[in-house]
Amino acid sequence: MKNILHCSGHNVLFEDIIRGDNCILYDSKGNDYLDMESGVWCNSIGHNNHLLVKALAKQASEIMHTGYCYLDPIVERAAEKIVGITGLENGKALFLSSGSEAVDFSIRISKYITGRKLMLTMSDSFLSSYGDFDNKDNWIFHDWLNNESLAKIPFSDISAFIFEPGSSSGFVRFPPSELITEIVAKIHANGGLVICNEVTTGIGRTGCWFGYNHYNIVPDIIAIGKGLGNGYPVSCIVCSGKTAKRINNETFHYFQSHQNDPLGACVANEVICIIEREKLIFAGNEKGKHIISELNRIKNKYGIIKEIRGRGLMIAIDFISRRGSSIAQLVNEKLIEQRIILVRRPNSETFRIDPSLTINDNDINRFITVFENAVNEVEKNG
Ligand SMILES: Cc1ncc(COP(=O)(O)O)c(C=O)c1O
Repeated sequence: MKNILHCSGHNVLFEDIIRGDNCILYDSKGNDYLDMESGVWCNSIGHNNHLLVKALAKQASEIMHTGYCYLDPIVERAAEKIVGITGLENGKALFLSSGSEAVDFSIRISKYITGRKLMLTMSDSFLSSYGDFDNKDNWIFHDWLNNESLAKIPFSDISAFIFEPGSSSGFVRFPPSELITEIVAKIHANGGLVICNEVTTGIGRTGCWFGYNHYNIVPDIIAIGKGLGNGYPVSCIVCSGKTAKRINNETFHYFQSHQNDPLGACVANEVICIIEREKLIFAGNEKGKHIISELNRIKNKYGIIKEIRGRGLMIAIDFISRRGSSIAQLVNEKLIEQRIILVRRPNSETFRIDPSLTINDNDINRFITVFENAVNEVEKNG
């Protein structure tokens, strides 16, 4: 692959993947790979979901893209659907193209509405691939992992708190509920907004429609991506009716060619309909509980796993750190030999597992068996 520029920070392991079927990928020789990370955590309802492919092909054959001055009714249907699953009162939705764009756009709205530049988030947030996150003047990164006090945060200057309910740059950590309730109350009392970044945690990933459903909070804006498109690049922001009212159409403008495209909206609508019809949030949560319990069994049986964390099908495994060779690296090599794909966080002892909500029992068993054998071998042989 001489002509492709790679800059993801991850090594390309397989160069010949030509087809997918639910959680299985195939290369041109017919080898099957088990995808335990849903691509980049995007395939909420499995690769090549035939119902979605059918809806997408139909929409593509009719119209894919419209300009700013004309809309296809599918966009309104999709907006109604997505506002419905958020439960935001009189909410409004805008469809965009990537998770990063949805987060960035949410920040623009909050800065516009509040007239403030300062943003608050957790020290381990991923945020997005865009934006001015390196500009420390505009950001407060709250070190919740070290129980930093909230006393120093100038809440009255903060435009918005961006909350990632479980992403933490891939480490799958869940900030405590009391802390989040307190921050949200302080933000709202001081006229700021609460943005939930649900790019990774949304669309059923954590056993609820959204990661914030595990918290007793109501966001003002929600950024949604990844699982919404099942691999098609559509994202979305949903804002509450109250927030939408504060956006003046005369002065707040955004020119991006693919906002509210019918094809993206059709895909988003269909993904949500399939999840609802097939009760995949419940099913995904049950499968997640089973995987977590099996991983804890393996953790208790061998001595090289430090912690298992997870909600629904968003799961992390921490191996113990030691001098010399990395345990995570050795286990991962054995998984790769057996064509199991998951994410090893670069330079860390953490694996992250996020299979599709549609993963079947065979694939779960294959993963657990191969993983246990790998852990056993690495413990025995180093
Ligand atoms: C929490 C979080 N927010 C935003 C993004 C950016 O989404 P995208 O890659 O679709 O731009 C990611 C990507 O991994 C993410 O994990």
